[in-house]
Amino acid sequence: MSYANLLITDTDSIRTITINRPDQLNALNRATIDELDKALDAAEKDKTVRVLVITGSGPKAFVAGADIKEFADFSVEEGKALSADGHKKLFTHVERMNKPVIAAVNGFALGGGLELAMSCHFRVASDNAKLGLPEVGLGVIPGYGGTQRLAQLVGKGKAMEMILLGSAGMIPAEEAIQWGLVNHVVPAEQLLSTCMELAGKIARNSPTALGAAIRAVNAAYEPGADGMQREIEEFGKCFGTADFKEGTSAFMEKRKASFTGA
Ligand code: COA
Repeated sequence: MSYANLLITDTDSIRTITINRPDQLNALNRATIDELDKALDAAEKDKTVRVLVITGSGPKAFVAGADIKEFADFSVEEGKALSADGHKKLFTHVERMNKPVIAAVNGFALGGGLELAMSCHFRVASDNAKLGLPEVGLGVIPGYGGTQRLAQLVGKGKAMEMILLGSAGMIPAEEAIQWGLVNHVVPAEQLLSTCMELAGKIARNSPTALGAAIRAVNAAYEPGADGMQREIEEFGKCFGTADFKEGTSAFMEKRKASFTGA
């Protein structure tokens, strides 16, 4: 499948999705969100894909936010629908993928860009990256999960400060790593290779166990979900998979496991 606003590259079992609107700093318009929705579905179904990396095109931005030009004249109802639609198609969709998704943050990650990075399972940033939620300076609030996921990742006080400061609250990658907002900071030219290296190590593990681990960790942040109970269920289900038989047999036979994801 080809996309107007995305580039898709497969390297072994790792799929890289590059948001490709560099002249607009990869701002998320609705067409791009729709394409990301489809690209995530396609990656989820494709058994040859084990890990995803999401990044932005060009040297300047991961994603500079939702497309301000597109929503500037929206009504209350349209604003609400924009947020709900984005949650469903992209942000919750990424978070609930059954394959690990790494954000390769290659520059500005602002507004919806930081919200996208936070929806990914973890983040690696280039040393020129800048992260922030400037929405209040536009008269809105983060509407793609930022008010919730930032507090989950860095705590309520830091989240409040970043959100309330708006564009003045933007932080460089070196500070983001101290906050725990990104896991690694690397020179820009090493960003993708670092992500590929991490993705390659993850891809050696059981795909069924990776999916189960994501669901169990996510349960801690789902309103009304019992995380420990979800862990017990997901742990138990692993025992019924071919991957579990393969992983434990390989250990006892002192060989490398070869997982099928079944
Ligand atoms: N939505 C729509 N277009 C955007 C955009 C966004 N979120 N962010 C950048 N762009 C566009 C600019 O309008 C400009 O397009 P143009 O050349 O057609 O006018 C192009 O991308 C380049 O951006 P520019 O502002 O000229 O680059 P800069 O280096 O001077 O500034 C930023 C970079 C990221 C600081 C600045 O673009 C910015 O503040 N963007 C908005 C960030 C934001 O508020 N995001 C939250 C949205 S809810």
